[in-house]
Amino acid sequence: MKKIAIIYWSGTGNTEMMAKAIAEGAEENSQEVKVLSVEKATLDDVVTADAIALGCPSMGAEVLEEEEMEPFVESLEKVVSEKPVALFGSYDWGNGEWMKDWEERIKNYGAKLIDEGLILHLTPTDEGLIKCKDLGENLSKFI
Ligand SMILES: Cc1cc2nc3c(=O)[nH]c(=O)nc-3n(C[C@H](O)[C@H](O)[C@H](O)COP(=O)(O)O)c2cc1C
Repeated sequence: MKKIAIIYWSGTGNTEMMAKAIAEGAEENSQEVKVLSVEKATLDDVVTADAIALGCPSMGAEVLEEEEMEPFVESLEKVVSEKPVALFGSYDWGNGEWMKDWEERIKNYGAKLIDEGLILHLTPTDEGLIKCKDLGENLSKFI
């Protein structure tokens, strides 16, 4: 069975809700799906996965969360080449700049970005959760 790892940071639970809905979508193609908060994730979870989804809200001033997610993403540079990667996260007052920067960075690492990074305003609505499920399903079709 193909493996998908969904790794996220979430301070107030919005991005976590997105991660769980992405997992539901990915599981529809009966993949082995792991959902991990970044402090529990290791590089090995990424290396052994056939595809990954990474989630982080917009933090700081339009950047990734800096204590845990930023160093984790930095550590992926050498291991995500050619890997299907989906990006997602929640935001509030910004214009999504953090996600545009993150997309560029992941593409520069050589990963295959699946769809555009999915951004949802604050707590996901039912419609937002459907977008998450669709993203999970798309990701699982790529492997
Ligand atoms: C310290 C801090 C910095 C933030 N910076 C931004 C920002 O630059 N742009 C933005 O759109 N939202 C910003 N937000 C809002 C969060 O992205 C938003 O509340 C999001 O829903 C949090 O997701 P989470 O529940 O997964 O933690 C910030 C929130 C906090 C607590």
